[in-house]
Amino acid sequence: MSDDAALLERRFRVMGRNAPLFYDRPVHLVRGHGVWVEDADGRRYLDVYNNVPHVGHCHPHVVEAIARQAATLNLHTRYLHETVVAYAERLTATFAEPLDAAVFTCSGTESNELALRLARYRSGGRGIIVSDFSYHGNSETLAAVTTCFPVPEPFPVFARKVPVPDPYRDRQGRDDGALGDLFAAKIAEAVRSLKAEGIPLAALLIDTLFANEGLPEPVPGYVAKAVAIVHEAGGQFICDEVQAGFGRTGDAMWGHQLSGVTPDIVTLGKPMGNGHPLAGVIAPAELIDSFGKAATYFNTFGGNPVSAAAGMAVLDVIEDEGLLENSRRVGAHVRAGLERLMARYPIIGNVRGRGLFFGIEIIADAGEKTPDPALTKRLVNMMRDRGVLLSRIGRYDNILKMRPPMVFTTADADLLLATLDNALAAL
Ligand SMILES: Cc1ncc(COP(=O)(O)O)c(C=O)c1O
Repeated sequence: MSDDAALLERRFRVMGRNAPLFYDRPVHLVRGHGVWVEDADGRRYLDVYNNVPHVGHCHPHVVEAIARQAATLNLHTRYLHETVVAYAERLTATFAEPLDAAVFTCSGTESNELALRLARYRSGGRGIIVSDFSYHGNSETLAAVTTCFPVPEPFPVFARKVPVPDPYRDRQGRDDGALGDLFAAKIAEAVRSLKAEGIPLAALLIDTLFANEGLPEPVPGYVAKAVAIVHEAGGQFICDEVQAGFGRTGDAMWGHQLSGVTPDIVTLGKPMGNGHPLAGVIAPAELIDSFGKAATYFNTFGGNPVSAAAGMAVLDVIEDEGLLENSRRVGAHVRAGLERLMARYPIIGNVRGRGLFFGIEIIADAGEKTPDPALTKRLVNMMRDRGVLLSRIGRYDNILKMRPPMVFTTADADLLLATLDNALAAL
């Protein structure tokens, strides 16, 4: 038996007691393949949480591409390199005009930080609007505008937070149009309040799936209404695709494409290199050119030849294995199964999500929809003990978060549903 308790103590000593770790009994993983990971004692877990190994843990095509390029050449990004340019061309071709140029970075944080600089440069403003339960990164500015967990930095005078509508909780007789108007009114109020303090708007920074917010069902048309107000105020719409991107929803390559609105700037991260640290910003070439003249942006590791090879291989697998279609098909299967569970277990108040990103809201009583975070936490740990990895999200920490690698099959889905059924029955 592996001595996980001793490893945990060593980790506490050398990495601190508060470096985040999942589960009451942390899992000590040693290898992975497809949608499966294995712990130090050889126990297998179905991975229903991780979007970083987007096309599956250790996908051989990605591993081979990384190994081949690492054995050929790797260095910083101030030389010409065919794969780096070809990757930028192929990636930008998946976006609508005028999003036709890329800057590569190493993390979602760096991407959002650069996007804010671009937005501030283009708009001449400093104001930022984010949702009131969001996370976009760990730099000083992004930490300060974090609203979904505590940070020591004060919320900045140049920022405003707005609640995003959650039809499950906020409907209260309102139709979709009224919910969208409510969000738009909050954005307009934020713009006015910034202006009143002499702070012109630079950007609205949101993830259009609202993953950290708890994946509320999208209200048709509400992004368009909000973005019209942002543009009128001279601001830029930055869409954070760190969680929603690369076909996760099954219906489109990019989350924002479901809203019908083309952002001014898009940020990418997590799934882009299947675990290799590759991230980026997509924006109009004219903006990137002009910003590049005013401020030399250099990122030593961002988009190096090995990263570009990893990114290219991820796009190959998404295409070759039809992973958007898989996400749509298997996602619909899971959702139907979750709805069947909801009909049997009153503690499931709501099922949400699309493609291979779904959640169920755990409540203490159906009438009041009282969130039950303690039960949700128990369920997450019970699933871990039954060999299925997932987590929880949302304003009340009561939404089971399920977002497996994109090679998740209907057989994997059936195992997830049966295990969930078993855990719910045991509660
Ligand atoms: C929506 C979103 N944006 C940005 C980030 C930051 O990405 P990174 O951890 O790569 O800096 C995260 C990380 O969880 C995220 O969920």
